[in-house]
Amino acid sequence: KEISNRKEKERIAQLVALRAIDGETIGAGSGSTSFLTVLALGERVENVGISIKIVPTSIEIELAAHAVGLNVISSLDRMVDWCFDGADEVDPSGRLIKGRGGALLREKAVFRASKKIVLVADASKDVKRLGEKHPVPVEVDPQWVRRVFGDISKMSNVAEVMLRMAVNKDGPVITERGNLLLDVRMNKIEEGDEERLMKMPGVCETGIFSGFEFERIMG
Ligand code: A5P
Repeated sequence: KEISNRKEKERIAQLVALRAIDGETIGAGSGSTSFLTVLALGERVENVGISIKIVPTSIEIELAAHAVGLNVISSLDRMVDWCFDGADEVDPSGRLIKGRGGALLREKAVFRASKKIVLVADASKDVKRLGEKHPVPVEVDPQWVRRVFGDISKMSNVAEVMLRMAVNKDGPVITERGNLLLDVRMNKIEEGDEERLMKMPGVCETGIFSGFEFERIMG
């Protein structure tokens, strides 16, 4: 199953890379499908000789883009022509859960900055109910983490709140912006939950991505 999953991701990556046109500024999401897409874009740029600029959403994807010779821009003062990014869950109404890799802050900013969004989520990401398989990641300023933990725990549809811990390190995961991540298991994600979480003091971003229009590429 993992191999067929990988093949699907590779096909998606190839299809998305074909869309890149000379002169475009393209947002690059994070995760394995985005990583494969960056590799495919590197090949396309080399073979076809187009010039594109990449806006990365994480250090990992920035390194990958550099490694295949792509032109990376770090400071943003304009809209992005289009972006591609994966997802952890996609529900029937097009709401997403993202942030398994902890890059949700920059991922959502690039979604907002893009004239068009291309979703590179393979079929395994489809769920009937958002939150069915994954907790909702919430990025929190460390100073506020106790308070936010308490506020989220009080929400009636929250089953569990966990501080994301690092592997091979005695402590929590610290995001690229020096924040912490709370993984929130929710029974049913209601319409206003994204806003409700965002209003809590200390919350920087949530992994609920709703209200975005996107085109989904399947392999
Ligand atoms: C990264 O923070 C996530 O939002 C990813 O976009 C998501 O986990 C998809 O990853 P894969 O492409 O590896 O499935």
